[in-house]
Amino acid sequence: MNFENLLTSITDGILTITINRPDKLNALNRKTIQEIGQAVQLGNSDKTVRVIILTGSGAKAFVAGADISEFNSFTEEEGKSLSQQGHDVFNSIENSSKLVIAAINGFALGGGCELAMACHLRIASSNAKFGQPEVKLGLIPGYGGTQRLPMLIGRTKALEFLMTADMFGADDALKFGLVNYVTSPEELMAKCNEIAIKISKQAPLAIAGIIKSVNALYDKNKNNFMTEVEEFGKCFITEDFTEGTNAFLEKRSANFKGH
Ligand code: COA
Repeated sequence: MNFENLLTSITDGILTITINRPDKLNALNRKTIQEIGQAVQLGNSDKTVRVIILTGSGAKAFVAGADISEFNSFTEEEGKSLSQQGHDVFNSIENSSKLVIAAINGFALGGGCELAMACHLRIASSNAKFGQPEVKLGLIPGYGGTQRLPMLIGRTKALEFLMTADMFGADDALKFGLVNYVTSPEELMAKCNEIAIKISKQAPLAIAGIIKSVNALYDKNKNNFMTEVEEFGKCFITEDFTEGTNAFLEKRSANFKGH
């Protein structure tokens, strides 16, 4: 995979995508958003990949937001189109059939907080700072922040952070339930890899079924319990189900292939 603003590597079935604009604190310009979408899509279609980790380059930022220099003279239509592009890519992350983990290594502001929230799990280093500062620019979040922040931390605190533009740290993010773990900066990638390896050993189609079923909860067009019924049923025709149940009965570890 060759990208202008991303670095990628695949090790032990884990695709690591690093947003690589450190001099701009990894701010998301249109090209970068487009490339994140492409990289996640490639990860989803590559059978050797089981888990995707998204992070930012440098010690200071995961992503410090959408690239403000790109949109300061936009019209209403251009603003809507920018927002739609972000939604399309971030929805594709949320709906990825492979687990996506955000490794949050510093500022996760605006579009950076929204990007992290579109991932399935979030691990933060102790120097991470979260926030939705758009209101200070006379804007509202445009990449899902008004929806995913209340879903993840509750409406009360979400409204406060959306309207004050205040930043909050990793320990508060853990307290609010926004992140799964907080680590030291040095241990961040090791912790992400540990979780990625654990989940990469589970049955890939069951993981995809869990993601689809949990996402159905937030989709007003879906009967969420029926999605679980359908996904549960589908597991019974997979080779991994046969392998998983046989391994249990034979008292050995299962070797799942994703079939
Ligand atoms: N868009 C474009 N460029 C950005 C950016 C963004 N969202 N965030 C940071 N940058 C750029 C800065 O302009 C600066 O570039 P320069 O060196 O060419 O001037 C570089 O990244 C470093 O940022 P700087 O502000 O000097 O670092 P800092 O440590 O003093 O402050 C932040 C860090 C994150 C507090 C500050 O950069 C900031 O407030 N960024 C904007 C956050 C935001 O509003 N995000 C939501 C956007 S919708």
